[in-house]
Amino acid sequence: PENVGVLAMEMYFPKRCVIQSEMETFDGVSAGKYTIGLGQDKMAFIDDREDIQSICLTAVQNLMEKHNISYSDIGRLEVGTETIIDKSKAVKTCLMTLFTEQGNTEVEGIDTTNACYGGFAAFSNAVNWIESSSWDGRYAIVVAGDLALYASGAARPTSGAGVVAMLIGKDAPIVVERGLRSTHMEHAYDFYKPDMHSEYPVVDGKFSNTCYIRAFDSCYRRYMARLAKLENKDKPSMDDIDYVVCHSPYAKLVNKSFARASYNDFLLDTDNEKFAALKPFEEMSYADSLENKDLERALMGLTKAGYAQKVGPAAYAPKQIGNMYTAAVWAGLASLVSEVDSETLQDKRIMLYSYGSGLAASMISFRVRGSTAEIKSKLNLRERLDARTHSKPEEFASAMKMRENTHNACNFNPSGSLDNIATGVYYVEKIDDKWRRFYKRK
Ligand code: ACO
Repeated sequence: PENVGVLAMEMYFPKRCVIQSEMETFDGVSAGKYTIGLGQDKMAFIDDREDIQSICLTAVQNLMEKHNISYSDIGRLEVGTETIIDKSKAVKTCLMTLFTEQGNTEVEGIDTTNACYGGFAAFSNAVNWIESSSWDGRYAIVVAGDLALYASGAARPTSGAGVVAMLIGKDAPIVVERGLRSTHMEHAYDFYKPDMHSEYPVVDGKFSNTCYIRAFDSCYRRYMARLAKLENKDKPSMDDIDYVVCHSPYAKLVNKSFARASYNDFLLDTDNEKFAALKPFEEMSYADSLENKDLERALMGLTKAGYAQKVGPAAYAPKQIGNMYTAAVWAGLASLVSEVDSETLQDKRIMLYSYGSGLAASMISFRVRGSTAEIKSKLNLRERLDARTHSKPEEFASAMKMRENTHNACNFNPSGSLDNIATGVYYVEKIDDKWRRFYKRK
């Protein structure tokens, strides 16, 4: 099969969000810390009425309905998530209720987990399946979703929640480029979830940022080396890329990663006039380059216009929602498709960087080979984001408290108000005395 890639996309995010400037006041930090320092505008949240399965049910059902896809045409369903509610039973098996109702129980694929990387792993499984001898000719669906929650403290303003569901198949408008995929993996304790009694991670924030940037450098260099070979280029660079989508824990880190790309380009082309501002850093060691604030400032200055053009459209939705762990990078792709017209996107190359702590990272690129207009209009992202309810930080804090108090609860009816659930959205009706979960659609 040719032109394997993304045929359709749907995104689910909660009805309620808090405004980051109000969070700054509520948390008693200096004005601008979350909005400028982290680069975030709003943060989506949920209470005990929703869980990973309910939000994924909503995303899949809406994808199928909005794009008029028949459940029997799906041969594979992959879920990437790090929101674990059961140590054995996969979220995918719960999503099978939708398929079973429609008479399709022959659906391969299961959950994949490693921090924010699971969605990318799910996506590559789906693409690999279609390109393999196991493929039965049907479509695949990839679901990447998480509740990104942090204990109160420095990391809490980088919370969020969301799911992206994608239809994957041949002859797609957003095509995966072959032969360029690069990967970097290692063992690191930057962010992990060893405490089964809590939804919150253990996180070394600063270290996780460095891990993210190091993995970016490594993937970018490998990607560029492959591009150079494939396209016979001496000095491949960001000039070969039209748009960039990075996993977005918060927008500022994405901005810094994009800036880093130019540092890597510079090291391959140190005498190029366009990198004159970086010349003083030519001899700097790699370890120093990760810490040096003068270099960071020079890179951010050099890449300011490029960031607005190449990254800005993908950064929009994640800035409005917050981190979505596995979904964040795909939300970036949905954002790009929503913010840029289909005509403008034609034949453009989109680089995508996925990072999951612990750590696993990969980089791929897409080429736009068909109209993205239908994906954009059905996502209807701007309008849906603007229609959300702005809640007070106190409500967010009490929703987090509610989740803490009911985490792992058995024989329990959620108390979160159904007023906070939009029409067409699945919610948790009850959890019975055997921890079995029951869902309803509003
Ligand atoms: N106005 C403008 N900027 C400000 C202000 C202000 N009033 N106050 C602070 N800032 C800037 C700081 O200078 C800093 O900028 P810099 O990063 O360019 O140096 C930035 O805002 C953040 O401020 P810090 O004091 O460094 O923030 P803090 O240490 O409290 O927390 C952190 C930031 C570490 C990112 C925290 O939110 C966190 O742990 N997040 C979760 C981990 C994470 O997302 N890691 C990313 C990769 S792994 C993953 O995806 C989970």
